[in-house]
Amino acid sequence: MSDHTVRTLRPDEHRAAWDLFRAALHVQPGTDEEWEPAARAHQDGRVLGVFGPELIGTTRSFDSEMVVPGGARLPLAAVTGVGVRAGRTRRGVLSALQAAQLADFAERGVALALLHASEGAIYGRYGYGIATLANRVVVDKHRAQLRPDVPDGGEVTVLGIDEAAPKWPELYAATAMGRVAAMTRSEIYWPGYEAQLRRRAKLVQTAVHRGPDGVDGYLTYYVEEDSHEHGKLQVMAFHYANPAAFAGLWRFLLSVDLVDEIVLPLRPLDEPHALLFADPRTAKTESTDDESWLRLVDVPAALAARAYGPAEPVVIEVSDRSLPANDGRYLVGPGGASRTDAEPALRLTADTLAMLYFGTWRASALADTGRIEVLDAAAPEAADVLFGTRESVWCGTFF
Ligand SMILES: CC(C)(COP(=O)(O)OP(=O)(O)OC[C@H]1O[C@@H](n2cnc3c(N)ncnc32)[C@H](O)[C@@H]1OP(=O)(O)O)[C@@H](O)C(=O)NCCC(=O)NCCS
Repeated sequence: MSDHTVRTLRPDEHRAAWDLFRAALHVQPGTDEEWEPAARAHQDGRVLGVFGPELIGTTRSFDSEMVVPGGARLPLAAVTGVGVRAGRTRRGVLSALQAAQLADFAERGVALALLHASEGAIYGRYGYGIATLANRVVVDKHRAQLRPDVPDGGEVTVLGIDEAAPKWPELYAATAMGRVAAMTRSEIYWPGYEAQLRRRAKLVQTAVHRGPDGVDGYLTYYVEEDSHEHGKLQVMAFHYANPAAFAGLWRFLLSVDLVDEIVLPLRPLDEPHALLFADPRTAKTESTDDESWLRLVDVPAALAARAYGPAEPVVIEVSDRSLPANDGRYLVGPGGASRTDAEPALRLTADTLAMLYFGTWRASALADTGRIEVLDAAAPEAADVLFGTRESVWCGTFF
């Protein structure tokens, strides 16, 4: 048990928390210029600190919404800025922060929490599980020849960052919310995102795609400076509302001069880059990594909000160490999900439920590897169908 004092920080304490977080990532304290956009990313009332007696640990979150299977949007807490002072780690500081933060989310009626983990071994104990995966895709531009049947796409206009940044929120909202696990981005999100891109490159461009019904896709990119000999184009955002916009934006990317390689760091698993090219090996998936970690804060609400595939209903029994109000049995079927007293067919913990929730991992695979206890042999296959989704789920927002 920890005897640490955890409390919500006042706005005048946010900068100290930010510097503590940076130090935990081995980064020097931020300048006044860096703090200006970062300050706006600290939502008032959502920054926690641990004192012992000075500030020794912190985490924060900001409000958002996330698309769940079937299209409903649930209140989401996006968790970030987690850091514990060097010399004070492994004494329960993070556990104290997690307990306070999850209790706060539950009290405020937040259904889901999401984070991007620095290391894979940290967050499972708090009920987070890998919920989305993403591919790093690299395209060899010299080899890139589009197949003749690839759609033409529409018009593309290129904007510099000063002109594009005020338009990003609207572009994002119009083009990025179609996929399961997409999250809304409020005014809390954008200043930090813009500052990060400005730090990365002197010239950041946004290509806006316009189809027959108006703007339907955009991408933001830069070409690494010092890469004249081997031009490397980094795609930092790529969102589109239909396949023609996907193809049109690819046509644009391939038209950028002095580029040898196009890098797309975190893309949905089912995005068909390879299918665009005469030689499908033009687009290589270099790695697949966990993209986001999900926590069902309100299990009954989260289970009830999503749609399910056509299969026999299954009773799952959930145990949740950090939020025991979620403990219990749930009948999950094509008609929905609700609490039940019936005998369970599958038993699982909160982190495993988070892995199952978006269908990224099949129930059968979770059972085969010991994460789900099977009490009815037919249940994993039924749960595969119930929780499965047609498209790969993808968050697409880094924070
Ligand atoms: C990761 C970090 C926040 C952990 O804080 P902490 O106060 O040391 O964590 P706690 O002492 O509360 O640890 C709780 C449990 O998690 C384990 N744990 C913590 N960090 C871990 C890590 N990096 N790898 C594996 N296990 C870890 C602890 O061993 C402990 O296990 P136990 O409950 O079985 O005893 C801290 O090490 C840190 O600031 N790291 C650098 C910044 C960072 O990675 N932040 C996360 C950004 S997503």
